[in-house]
Amino acid sequence: MTSRWIGTSWKMNFTLSDAVTYTHTLGKALCERPELSEGIQPFLVPPATALATVHQILGERPRRPGRLKLGVQNAHWEDNGAWTGEISVPQALDAGADIVEIGHSERREFFNETIRTTRLKVLAAIRHGAYPLLCVGEPQEVRDRGQAADYILRQANGALDGLTEAQLSAVLIAYEPMWAIGATGRPATVAQLSEPFHALHERFGGRVECLLYGGSVNRQNAESLLATDHIGGLFIGRSAWTAAGYTEILELASAA
Ligand code: PGA
Repeated sequence: MTSRWIGTSWKMNFTLSDAVTYTHTLGKALCERPELSEGIQPFLVPPATALATVHQILGERPRRPGRLKLGVQNAHWEDNGAWTGEISVPQALDAGADIVEIGHSERREFFNETIRTTRLKVLAAIRHGAYPLLCVGEPQEVRDRGQAADYILRQANGALDGLTEAQLSAVLIAYEPMWAIGATGRPATVAQLSEPFHALHERFGGRVECLLYGGSVNRQNAESLLATDHIGGLFIGRSAWTAAGYTEILELASAA
């Protein structure tokens, strides 16, 4: 069995000193308790400002506690140039990233991310040997119309069509229904996940590295989510914004 990818994005949170404290605490837990990452690929997606610091604290990649991987929350598709405010995939890799998160619903909703730009970013990540972590997910009204599976397949196909099997094998897809994300979100029930994950599995199962679920994941629902058909990993927000919270979910996942 391939590893379960279980990680967290800190979104636009944490000063450098918060990041240092979190990383030291997590690194210590993973070193002292190797069972926490047994069968699991843990990952952190800090804000870009903290990435190099987190990378330095954790040390060289193959020797990292729990072989923890790092990511960025977004990157431009060009390698460099006059793109004020953006960072490129080579810059992200240089600062310690292995993963490029692409198309989170907050970026689609508030920063004009489109299917076209997610595709360009997936291609850029692959070109540089990073793992693209493509997020897909429908708004409430699409769910209400019973069109969730069609909607997310359109997002995933738009970003991934035409990739070779070898390229696809590095891709991570996170299904994150918009109505399940954040402080006002309601965690998806196992029944609500069945159709979207079935659709993603039919199309991409066994071909991509991992299918993950995200949206109000917490210590109460992590085990049942991981026991749900075709869910191979978890992408966590708020519940993993303390090292203890994240460790607790790793503990549940490694025991599951
Ligand atoms: P949440 O965030 O766990 O805080 O709902 C999930 C996400 O946006 O990936």
